[in-house]
Amino acid sequence: MTPINQTEPWQALDTLAREHRGQSIASLFEGDAERVALFSREAAGLYLDGSKNRISRAVLDQLFALAERAGVPDAIKAMVNGNKINVTEDRAVLHVALRDFAHRTYHVDGEAVSPAINAVRARMSAFCDAIHRGTHTGFTGKPLTTVVNIGIGGSDLGPLMVTEALRPYGLTGRQSHFVSNVDGQHLADVLATLDPETTLFIVASKTFTTQETMTNARSARGWFLEKAGGDEAAIARHFVALSTNERAVTDFGIVAENMFGFWDWVGGRYSLWSAIGLSIALQMGFDRFEALLKGAHAMDEHFRRAPLQENMPVLLALIGVWNRNFEGCATHAVLPYDQHLHRFPAYLQQADMESNGKAVTLAGAPTAWATGPVVFGEPGTNGQHAFYQLIHQGTDVIACDFIAAAKSHAALGDHHEKLLANFLAQPKALMLGKDEASVRDDLAEQGVPENEIDRLARHRTFPGNRPTNAILMDMLTPETLGALIALYEHKIFCQGVIWQVNSFDQWGVELGKVLASEILPALKEEDVPLTNHDPSTAALIQRIKSVRHD
Ligand code: F6P
Repeated sequence: MTPINQTEPWQALDTLAREHRGQSIASLFEGDAERVALFSREAAGLYLDGSKNRISRAVLDQLFALAERAGVPDAIKAMVNGNKINVTEDRAVLHVALRDFAHRTYHVDGEAVSPAINAVRARMSAFCDAIHRGTHTGFTGKPLTTVVNIGIGGSDLGPLMVTEALRPYGLTGRQSHFVSNVDGQHLADVLATLDPETTLFIVASKTFTTQETMTNARSARGWFLEKAGGDEAAIARHFVALSTNERAVTDFGIVAENMFGFWDWVGGRYSLWSAIGLSIALQMGFDRFEALLKGAHAMDEHFRRAPLQENMPVLLALIGVWNRNFEGCATHAVLPYDQHLHRFPAYLQQADMESNGKAVTLAGAPTAWATGPVVFGEPGTNGQHAFYQLIHQGTDVIACDFIAAAKSHAALGDHHEKLLANFLAQPKALMLGKDEASVRDDLAEQGVPENEIDRLARHRTFPGNRPTNAILMDMLTPETLGALIALYEHKIFCQGVIWQVNSFDQWGVELGKVLASEILPALKEEDVPLTNHDPSTAALIQRIKSVRHD
């Protein structure tokens, strides 16, 4: 495999980046009536406008050539064919199969996986029905109206983000809680609000070995048993598991009938489409969960069928590659102008940073180019009054995605028009900025004395020329949310292909887990020698112990 930075399109992009230095985004619109159309795509209920990036037509052509040269079309085929593209774990990557509505049969190792997917979906649907109709009740015969999802990472962020995003679709009288942190305060805070007679605990863990989840699950089980007067049989009515590890689930004490399975070819951060989505289905109904899957499926169909030049996830990925590798943007802000999408940036942090936070190529060599950016974000307009200052005038250029829906679920005065005005104004300000001459003119018009103008002008000047994408949908619905998530999943996939990394493993999180289990005995027990630890860690352990044992 030729290193990507030694391919012709990459080198052409390098040259173009040098030639275009200093060119403004605004100037790229001049005399180009087609620019908005050239950089816009529409698919699965979403509209993407990438025209406010510092990308010329020549750059765009080379970016498409880069995608072709990197083998994006073949990579898409390899993924949907069930090839083991997660090479370090020898696994297929088939989350698209979980949301297939085209009656395709997907295969892994020559075996059709679609029947098993449909069987789990049918069981999830029947379970939701039993809970909603009240035929599956708690140990005292009351309906189970509250769900506590215990999970972390992909077993938490996806269902939590979707449940929040689709609040208007929640069924009346139903409540959901998500407990992830091993910090006991998280579980304790939730337990304090619960009625054990009406609560269903979902233990969500692909591996069923994750320390945080198993600790929380055991504590929740202990709490529940105490409330249920030690009635072990009641566990079966109040605890279900979502996992790939049946043995660990039964060892924990959850019977196989109460387990909804999935498979090793579903990555944790791609698992909300699988049984991990049970908390979503319970909160808003299985039909709404299916609508979410259908939205993602619509984006999948576009992704696999549309030519590179017309492909929305491909364009989003290429704009990201340009900004990361040729414009030096190490940070990417995700800015949903939608309060219900307040967990979307956190969800995308895992999707993007766990996938493409890699510095070794598929061939095992160090990457000689930058890969995944730092992803962060908050809903607008809140972020405007917090960190946007740095985006407008800081020393780093931060690429931003602005996301909004034209219509709101909340018909409240002119709130939505104001929200949208800000959604449009910020990218405009970031692109155009404000030069010193116009700052001076404005201040003079306001009657500010000349010496004051000299003092203030530089501070009030905006460099502009900061790259942004806009993603617009009619309304945030299960379908458009599904499409939005799938758009980003495929974007991340294409970028991983171009950067020649494995986007589907996450070895980087393992070392910390191992070291935490080595440190734990030193915190829990007396007389454990600290000589294994570096001096700083040993001193911190000592200090913690001395406070705790006071
Ligand atoms: O530690 C990272 C990770 O493995 C994520 O990839 C995963 O989503 C999360 O932990 C939770 O894992 P599990 O679902 O197996 O508990």
